[in-house]
Amino acid sequence: MNRSYPNTRLRRTRANGWSRAMVRENLLTPLDLIWPLFVTDGKGVEDPVSSLPGVSRWSVDGIAARAKEAVELGIPCIALFPNTQEALRTDDGVEAHNPDNLMCRAIRAVKDACGEDIGVLTDVALDPYTTHGQDGLVNDAGYVVNDDTVAMLVDQAINQAEAGADIIAPSDMMDGRVRAIRMALEMGGHHNVQIMAYAAKFASAFYGPFRDAVGSGDRLVGDKKTYQMDPANGDEALAEVALDIAEGADSVMVKPGLAYLDIIYRVKQRFEVPVYAYQVSGEYALIEAGAAAGAGDRDALLMEKLISFKRAGCSGVLTYHAPIAARLLHG
Ligand code: PBG
Repeated sequence: MNRSYPNTRLRRTRANGWSRAMVRENLLTPLDLIWPLFVTDGKGVEDPVSSLPGVSRWSVDGIAARAKEAVELGIPCIALFPNTQEALRTDDGVEAHNPDNLMCRAIRAVKDACGEDIGVLTDVALDPYTTHGQDGLVNDAGYVVNDDTVAMLVDQAINQAEAGADIIAPSDMMDGRVRAIRMALEMGGHHNVQIMAYAAKFASAFYGPFRDAVGSGDRLVGDKKTYQMDPANGDEALAEVALDIAEGADSVMVKPGLAYLDIIYRVKQRFEVPVYAYQVSGEYALIEAGAAAGAGDRDALLMEKLISFKRAGCSGVLTYHAPIAARLLHG
């Protein structure tokens, strides 16, 4: 194509709102949103997360109410994260296997309230259940061991599937966990339970407010660099995605979102699977703080960030802004 001025004036199609709408290449709808929710004990509890203004931990009844709200807003899926009470946290995180733990109670409450009207995605990793805040079992040298952790994660995933989870989302970054979970789901008769692998999850500084929300931040000993990826690496992210797909992932996630749009784009070019971004807690907090400090209009900032994920190739985005974005989209 040999375009030149004045035959081509790219401003022509930008001159009117109707025309801009006609040539718009990407669309964000509430169907693109997955809403992460934090669960806490009690009844009728709403406990605000101070580092995430506008986000709260809800007791199980409140989670069911949020799920109904999501259905009304046209959001197809919620993601659940428990803030496990102190007394139930152990070195091995075995509370993750309790069929009556906070996560399982929340799953059942959402299914009772909404049935098939909404998908429930559950995080698989031990950090909300361990005393040390690591995602797996830690040996005497302080190293998070791989294969024994995978065995724990398999039981955690099956526990969630039996409670009614629709999408199992391993966020732990252990090697081989997708295959192990897939095999256990198949053997357990959970043929239609999906796996959305946190395939390319980076050791990021953007997870701080999340760790506050689930209560693992102050506990965390060391960092997660021996299992989460180095932010400097792109090719390695493709290797992670390839393995997770081969092991049985139905969809993959890139996390965090905005600083990793190149990874999303490369994954989407290379593989024929749905790709999701997790716009993580620190990203949410930055938009809120920036807007509060006068850096821009909050709603405009968040919508611009969300459309960038669609443009990069995402099928959807996990975002704490989901209900706000859905309301804006409904006008
Ligand atoms: C747990 C997990 C984390 C997040 C999602 N699942 C934190 C971590 O890996 O330390 C972060 C999400 C967010 O920051 O919003 N494995």
